[in-house]
Amino acid sequence: MAATGSEQAGPTAYYVSTPIYYVNDAPHLGHAYTTVAGDVLTRWHRQRGEKVWYLTGTDEHGQKIMRTAEANGVSPQEWCDKLVEEAWKPLWEHLDIANDDFIRTTEKRHMDRVQEFVQDLYDKGEIYQGGYEGPYCVACEEYKTYAELLEGEGEFAGLRLCPIHKKPVEMLQEENYFFKLSAYGPKLLEHYEAHPEFIQPESARNEVMQFVRQGLEDLSISRSTFDWGVKIPWDDKHVIYVWVDALLNYATAVGYGADQKKFDGTFPADVHLVGKDILRFHAVIWPAMLMANGLPLPKRVVANGWLMVGGEKMSKSNLTGISPQQLTQHFGVDAYRWYFLRAIAFGQDGSFSWEDFSARYTSELANDYGNLASRVTAMVNKYFDGALPEAPAHGAAERAIADGLTKATAEADKKIGEELDFAGGIAAVFDFIKQVNGYLTEQAPWKVAKDESPEAQARLATILYTAAESLRACAVLLNPVMPQTSQKLWDSLGAEPALGPLTDQHIPDTARWAQLPPGATVTKGANLFPRLEEPK
Ligand code: MSP
Repeated sequence: MAATGSEQAGPTAYYVSTPIYYVNDAPHLGHAYTTVAGDVLTRWHRQRGEKVWYLTGTDEHGQKIMRTAEANGVSPQEWCDKLVEEAWKPLWEHLDIANDDFIRTTEKRHMDRVQEFVQDLYDKGEIYQGGYEGPYCVACEEYKTYAELLEGEGEFAGLRLCPIHKKPVEMLQEENYFFKLSAYGPKLLEHYEAHPEFIQPESARNEVMQFVRQGLEDLSISRSTFDWGVKIPWDDKHVIYVWVDALLNYATAVGYGADQKKFDGTFPADVHLVGKDILRFHAVIWPAMLMANGLPLPKRVVANGWLMVGGEKMSKSNLTGISPQQLTQHFGVDAYRWYFLRAIAFGQDGSFSWEDFSARYTSELANDYGNLASRVTAMVNKYFDGALPEAPAHGAAERAIADGLTKATAEADKKIGEELDFAGGIAAVFDFIKQVNGYLTEQAPWKVAKDESPEAQARLATILYTAAESLRACAVLLNPVMPQTSQKLWDSLGAEPALGPLTDQHIPDTARWAQLPPGATVTKGANLFPRLEEPK
């Protein structure tokens, strides 16, 4: 449920964020994975009837972006504008991402508030000036410890490498401003203990706790050797460290320092979705920054695993970044949204395989679900001229289907809505689809139809009503995952005139039986999941 603060005027929004992505390159499957997961989660909560806020955006400052722009002979701002408008925003539109806002860290609404936040910390004595020397990975935009570096081999022999990017680190020595992060270790540990749900999954929580227990170092929060960033307000020779700038998007985008009402009604986040490589920033640095400024902490930081190619994290720098459009062209947008959440346990790494995608598409989407929909709508047309019949012979077999729906709905709601176990939640709905297919095979309406007795005709009507009513529920439960297909099914069941738009159907009400009104106009729509073309 959306959090309700008793001191608030109304319920606060269920607020979910994605990481804001670096725009040094175009998005790949790994980026889209988290954004789709957040979209399914927020669509789910919206369909529970809750107030929701879904935020995504882009991280545009720092050395990595600056260097990419230089290499392409344009200014960093030009580079970012182009990538955001031509690559990132169009992809989210293409994938039907229903975000409520899109924040760019180069926007004034963000930069002004970042300065205020950092100034507040400075005024409170949380920031001091000092020097630092250490290995820095520009791809991570992070100082590394010597212990975690890898020994280079081959072309990198004799060099020390970033463990994530497998690229040489650079030695940096600078006069910087530091945030007193080390002081927050005990308070953070106390928070993790008191709120075991704060970091998920469990393995991620353990890793962070162990890291914090070892003792935290203060955090360098400014850079002075380049200028592509937000200026330190009291010393404009420095720009604010890109991660401090970036993390603050979660506050600035919802009105921090600008729109108190919106801020109170949204902040803090219910779920920060992050990749496991950026967990420490979100589970250590971000809460410490909030504590230092007296702001409430997010409820959960949930880390997802990586999409892997050949045993390595898929990435553009490894040249393994596959563009989502390469897959949507072949499988369609809905199947794409479905596949990664269905096939990979959220929180664990998963490998992408074209063969696995094709196999699941054919067996679960086309055969189990798509066929069910086309068979049922075709039979209502064939035997009842497209007018949904009543179900006068509702008996034990039908009650079993209705019970199956109650179970699937509760399970999917718990798994997707609460536990972010997307694979488990989707499986619950597809188990129900299997159950309905089994029911049809057993009841064999095509045989019953041959018998013209009133009893047989009553059975036929009941079987088809039951199957159509089951499909009504599938359209609702799968709408957060596959909105286009669900809408097609909703239309072909003729549900809208009586029940209203699909998006208004509430999840908790889905299992209430017999919502489709007899007489609804059922049309045999196009195949929900057409047979796949052979890849060229
Ligand atoms: N800009 C920072 C995030 C700042 S949030 C305040 C950043 N950007 S990123 O573009 O490099 O990565 C964004 C997200 O994409 C991370 O959560 C990262 O884990 C995710 N992924 C990048 N490659 C990935 C895979 N191959 N698989 C799954 N997610 C991966 O870090």
